[in-house]
Amino acid sequence: MEPKYWERRWADGETGFHRLTVNPYLERNLGFTGVHGGRVLVPLCGKSMDLDYFASLGFEVLGVELSEIAVRQFFDERGLSPTVRRVGAFEVYAHGPVSIACGDLFSLPEGDLVGILAFDRVTLVYDRAALIALPPELRTRYVETLRRVLPSSAVYLLLSLAFDETERGGPPFSVTRDEVMKQYGGWREVRCVETVDITSESPKLVERGATVVREDVYVMRPLPSVPS
Ligand SMILES: C[S@@+](CC[C@H](N)C(=O)[O-])C[C@H]1O[C@@H](n2cnc3c(N)ncnc32)[C@H](O)[C@@H]1O
Repeated sequence: MEPKYWERRWADGETGFHRLTVNPYLERNLGFTGVHGGRVLVPLCGKSMDLDYFASLGFEVLGVELSEIAVRQFFDERGLSPTVRRVGAFEVYAHGPVSIACGDLFSLPEGDLVGILAFDRVTLVYDRAALIALPPELRTRYVETLRRVLPSSAVYLLLSLAFDETERGGPPFSVTRDEVMKQYGGWREVRCVETVDITSESPKLVERGATVVREDVYVMRPLPSVPS
């Protein structure tokens, strides 16, 4: 998707993906990662309540989000005045344990930013509605981008959706187990820790023609970063 697509959605308030509560799949499955603190990277974070959840557990939180509207709303809705500084192609908004780098994730890796935002200290990546927001042609680039900035010790928690492909495309896009194995198969460990039939809670996808919708949760550990 072009950046303009997401900017328009945020400008028009078309943000049906945003949840008003902490994601229950995150709460139920965080324990499977074995990560109890440190720095969590939340790519394509929107203004998710899950950032607050991680902060409440004592994590340092680093989100990456394209839309300035989303980032401003995140802090405004909490009555917080973040500091803002420019780092390369990103504006970094920060308050307390939460920083959000506002810009295009695909501008990474960028030497200074990777260092300044301490990607090397990331212990956990939390991906909810990020991989599934990307069309197939961008997914490989997304995963490679993350691998380039992550330390090999980071654990990856992925919340994914799988449904029968429909004629009208996403986002969200279906990401089947085969697709997960294709994208992350070279990583040391890819484990599905929960799978739930959510067809009855997915009226929009059913309207699009899906007959079965599954929420799948994976825990993955990456190979060492790709040399640049
Ligand atoms: C489906 S939403 C999910 C938001 C969030 N993860 C959540 O659970 O509410 C996808 C988000 O990714 C952002 N986004 C899309 N492409 C991006 C990119 N290349 N770099 C950074 N953010 C991006 C969009 O602006 C949007 O907020």
